[in-house]
Amino acid sequence: MSTARLRRSVLAVPGSNPRMMEKAAASAADEVFLDLEDACAPLEKPAARAKVVEALRTHDWHGKTRVVRINQVTSQFAFDDLREVISGAGDVLDCIMVPKVRNAGDIAFVDRALLQLEQALGYAVGRIGIEAQIEDAEGLMRADEIAFSSSRLETLTFGPADFSASMQLPSLSVRNDSSYPGDVFHYVLFKLAVAARAAGIQVIDGPYLAIHDVDGYRAAASRAAALGYDGKWVLHPVQIEPANETFTPAQADFDKAARILEAYRQATEVERKGAVMLDDEMIDEASRKIAVQFYARGVAAGLTPSPARGEESAAG
Ligand code: GLV
Ligand code: MG
Repeated sequence: MSTARLRRSVLAVPGSNPRMMEKAAASAADEVFLDLEDACAPLEKPAARAKVVEALRTHDWHGKTRVVRINQVTSQFAFDDLREVISGAGDVLDCIMVPKVRNAGDIAFVDRALLQLEQALGYAVGRIGIEAQIEDAEGLMRADEIAFSSSRLETLTFGPADFSASMQLPSLSVRNDSSYPGDVFHYVLFKLAVAARAAGIQVIDGPYLAIHDVDGYRAAASRAAALGYDGKWVLHPVQIEPANETFTPAQADFDKAARILEAYRQATEVERKGAVMLDDEMIDEASRKIAVQFYARGVAAGLTPSPARGEESAAG
């Protein structure tokens, strides 16, 4: 089931670094994921589990989506990652992120392991969600089945770096190669969005590696937002504000959505008409559906309707 969790900015933090985890808790990111996978050196992975548990238990994560990324389910680490993290902090985390998901079975494994742990530890069954990273050719090929693989699944998340490696793309910086006349990532971004929306879950774009190139980050985030994405990873605090801004509807659009909803309600309920003009546009039931999701996103991001023009001048 899709939840209303806010994930405009998804901050990646190495689980081996207590100081960075502490800073992440105080950041403005909507989600923080404490990483036991690729940002954690293999020799540090076993010790990082306890550090992650400690960070989850100690810091104030209020208002944030709290996530731990475990290692790939086919690695020697994944089982112990789950056991240690859920045993130590299963009551104070929201989701487990699963990297390099290749098929529905990968998610089924995590789903059942969570079920066993929840039962053994006396936690509410089914509360802990799953985020699935799609980041190789096989995972993309099976994105549709993965999207429907568990009622715990809350996101499909693109992993452009691993995906570039899997596809042998020729850019070392995980971005569009200027020799290609289109957007190298368009197909994967759109395909994941379709699979996620069909399953009623969120879809999240992955990292942008050039952290000092904030304009480049904004452009990449805007590209995902234009395809309806809910958010994007951030690797550094400078990327948080651009992410939160890009994935929040503009106030003018939010206000317009509210006007569409009111005009459509008036048309259908009072005038008994299914299609009416609002300003210079025709609106109908489909317009209402679009407006509903704009409005919901805005409310989730904390927007409130602008005062009507008359009220503004009366107040001023
Ligand atoms: C993220 O995990 C990526 O591989 O891009
Ligand atoms: Mg990856």
